[in-house]
Amino acid sequence: MAPYSIRKYQDQDREVVRNMFSNGILSHVPTSFFHLLKQPRSFLLFLSVPGALFLGSSSLLLSLLALPGLLVFLWMAVRYPFKCYVDHALHTDLRDIRKSYLSERGCCFWVAESEDQVVGMVCVCPVQQASRRQKCLQLFHLSVSPEYRGQGIAQTLTQTVLQFAQDQGYDAVVLSVLCLNYSAQRLYEKMGFWKSHESFDSVIWRVIDLRFSYYEYSVPSSL
Ligand SMILES: CC(C)(COP(=O)(O)OP(=O)(O)OC[C@H]1O[C@@H](n2cnc3c(N)ncnc32)[C@H](O)[C@@H]1OP(=O)(O)O)[C@@H](O)C(=O)NCCC(=O)NCCS
Repeated sequence: MAPYSIRKYQDQDREVVRNMFSNGILSHVPTSFFHLLKQPRSFLLFLSVPGALFLGSSSLLLSLLALPGLLVFLWMAVRYPFKCYVDHALHTDLRDIRKSYLSERGCCFWVAESEDQVVGMVCVCPVQQASRRQKCLQLFHLSVSPEYRGQGIAQTLTQTVLQFAQDQGYDAVVLSVLCLNYSAQRLYEKMGFWKSHESFDSVIWRVIDLRFSYYEYSVPSSL
């Protein structure tokens, strides 16, 4: 296990960080696809579309050909919101990372470095929550390169965030995570976060039956 250290983002990290973020998010597409395949609505689709084609055309070949077509359709449908999320972030906060995270009060961006390579990332920004009087910080874009996972890097990055929150006088750290992302949820629970609720973030996530879990961490007065 190579040693690693945590430091603030520098401009030369931009491309690695953007790629790590995109790959980390898109890595959830296969699991989400199999999740959707197991839903009753997919089962119905796989029965009804070939069935309707057979009744309409009496062609067994056509109805069988519909099956791979449906698989491709469902894969694209699942990938679409992930791709939109990635594209949106790459064109907004991850476009000019220094401006988004290192020039704004309360925001910060850290990377984990090992053997002169960036192998992990995380960032935070203050979040306004109308329903709460607490000063909240939101954790975003936690990701670790696949070859460096399982070494405690995400845990150290999260600990850096929690320490920052305490030093800056925040009351809570909040985040959202895909409900199928069990490794991240286990990490957050191990670090003291608790799940406040689950919801679909928008209609498209509801269509593909993927919820987000919302987590909170209450910052103690001294860690
Ligand atoms: C989730 C992720 C950040 C974890 O990174 P990591 O550096 O491998 O995590 P760590 O080694 O610090 O693990 C800390 C704890 O997290 C949990 N954990 C991490 N990976 C896990 C896995 N594959 N299965 C189960 N638990 C896991 C464990 O509780 C672990 O503690 P333990 O080793 O004492 O059991 C990494 O898998 C990743 O980058 N995934 C893709 C991007 C992503 O999903 N980010 C989260 C967005 S909210």
